[in-house]
Amino acid sequence: MEIALRPVVAEDLPLLVGGDAPYDDFGPRPPRTEPYPSVLREFGGMAVCEAAGGLLLGSVSWIWQQWGPMPESRNPMIGIWLRPEARGRGAGTAAQRAVADLFFRHTTVNRVEATTDVENIAEQRALEKAGFTREGTVRGAQWRSGAFHDCYSYSILRADWAA
Ligand SMILES: CC(C)(COP(=O)(O)OP(=O)(O)OC[C@H]1O[C@@H](n2cnc3c(N)ncnc32)[C@H](O)[C@@H]1OP(=O)(O)O)[C@@H](O)C(=O)NCCC(=O)NCCS
Repeated sequence: MEIALRPVVAEDLPLLVGGDAPYDDFGPRPPRTEPYPSVLREFGGMAVCEAAGGLLLGSVSWIWQQWGPMPESRNPMIGIWLRPEARGRGAGTAAQRAVADLFFRHTTVNRVEATTDVENIAEQRALEKAGFTREGTVRGAQWRSGAFHDCYSYSILRADWAA
């Protein structure tokens, strides 16, 4: 499926509910502890739409992190949630390819990361089809539904993307 990314608008919010089991059921989020300017620097997101007609399919998001003290080592970790009726038609693959493309074209990042539950086969396949490589298991990484869950770590590097 051909998709397009665009900024999220207020009308999208009732449709971007998220929270469905088993991989997005995080329960109530803790209150933000940082002032907004810092929070806004660390998080971002875009709406995922059908290219033809613009139907809202879901959203991609990212959080910035840094591997050590150098600003060059800063990279986004992406996440995705599609509306149930939008799943299984290639949009997850296309959207994650598109968001990696966006970062490599418009920023200087060397690496775009993603993690997913070791049991989330759909997301693992979508990431691999989008050009990401599985790097290993991150043990007990994600608190979700009352337990810590193991995740797989994935990345795509600028060199992978350029090839
Ligand atoms: C995970 C998600 C983003 C994948 O996007 P998608 O558009 O449904 O996936 P795609 O259609 O691009 O399919 C990617 C691959 O996964 C496979 N797949 C899709 N759904 C699957 C399922 N439920 N079980 C196993 N494989 C599945 C597809 O067959 C395809 O592989 P193939 O080409 O080898 O057949 C989407 O299903 C989703 O939003 N799920 C709920 C939220 C979530 O899990 N987000 C990720 C959290 S890390």
